[in-house]
Amino acid sequence: MTAEQWMELDSQYIAHSYGRFPIVADAGSGSVLTDVNGKEYIDFGAGIGVTSFGYADPVWKEAVISQVEKLQHTSNVYYTQPCIKLAQMLCEKTGMSKVFFTNSGAEANECAIKAARKYAEEKKGKEYTTILTLDGSFHGRTVTTLAATGQLHYHEMFQPLTTGFVHGDTEDLEKFKNTVRNEKLAGILIECVQGEGGVNVLSPAFVQGIAQICQDENILLMVDEVQTGNGRTGKLYSYMHYGVEPDIVSTAKGLGGGLPIGVTMFSEKLKDIFAPGDNGSTFGGNPVVCAGACTVLARLTDDFLAQIEKKGQMMRDYLTGKPGIEGVDGLGMMLGVRTKKKAIDVVKACNEAGLLCLTAKDKVRLMPPLNISEDDLAKGLEILAKACAD
Ligand SMILES: Cc1ncc(COP(=O)(O)O)c(C=O)c1O
Repeated sequence: MTAEQWMELDSQYIAHSYGRFPIVADAGSGSVLTDVNGKEYIDFGAGIGVTSFGYADPVWKEAVISQVEKLQHTSNVYYTQPCIKLAQMLCEKTGMSKVFFTNSGAEANECAIKAARKYAEEKKGKEYTTILTLDGSFHGRTVTTLAATGQLHYHEMFQPLTTGFVHGDTEDLEKFKNTVRNEKLAGILIECVQGEGGVNVLSPAFVQGIAQICQDENILLMVDEVQTGNGRTGKLYSYMHYGVEPDIVSTAKGLGGGLPIGVTMFSEKLKDIFAPGDNGSTFGGNPVVCAGACTVLARLTDDFLAQIEKKGQMMRDYLTGKPGIEGVDGLGMMLGVRTKKKAIDVVKACNEAGLLCLTAKDKVRLMPPLNISEDDLAKGLEILAKACAD
């Protein structure tokens, strides 16, 4: 079948909620994706920050295939080894005390919200249910995580959403404090780098200010690391750039290396928040997914994280000051390029020229595989610079 025929079938049978680019992916190897016509693309999107070690990474593949051959699923009424190993590794690497496994970022945030509400009800009282999030934030597409998302255009058409969410002013600590004073808060949920909101890096003063408020007012600090986590910003989790200690951390995307995963991590004070029946997931902690995730996490060593910072800096240095580029925002290998041309037009031109990248609001968003070779990185950057200038 031709690419056009595949696209036609897609539009006939798949509910139309994605604006797809006209590329029918067929295979991938390392940082290169091949479409059904055999055209190759260097991938600076990595499946929206998911394929952390690229396509068909041999270490990840070997772990996944051997686990598939051994045992693919049991449900959570039995113990399985890969999820226990992954949980231990996550806790040892972060200092968090316990984790809960789900299948996606939205579910990880749902779990975070449930835990925060239960904790606040027990410790502060039944009326302390509200979660404060930030303007410009994105926390998922379920009815509850949409309510958490501080971008009101996502809310249209889907009312009524789950109640108990308010949105505070990003980067205005005084206004933010006013909101805190007026609400009965269970928790404050933030992304340290707002991904879907446009790769906006929160300032240390703002994040540390929020952490201080949480401490002073006995409010849980919750960090959404769905997009920023697992090495993407050059630290294991982006909150680690800020010297703050969250009570709850949610993550997903890049941890699975290409298979669906969600994780909610709890600090010591919340480690016993759930009792049997409080939360659940048929597939959460699936052994195949977790076997792959263990190989991702094991390789995010300090040396490797330093390489991410270095490559991110190299990308910035290359792009900064190039014709058609107004600036580069972001942290590590999660970058948002401000372009003179419309970001979507730059992405389309890149696709034509053999480079995949993403948009985030009015920026071109770059999230290459963390282990991309310097050669592929250089080739991709050259295509991008040309697309911005033409
Ligand atoms: C910060 C953040 N939180 C939550 C989500 C939702 O994750 P998922 O699509 O896996 O449900 C996303 C997805 O882009 C995200 O960027």
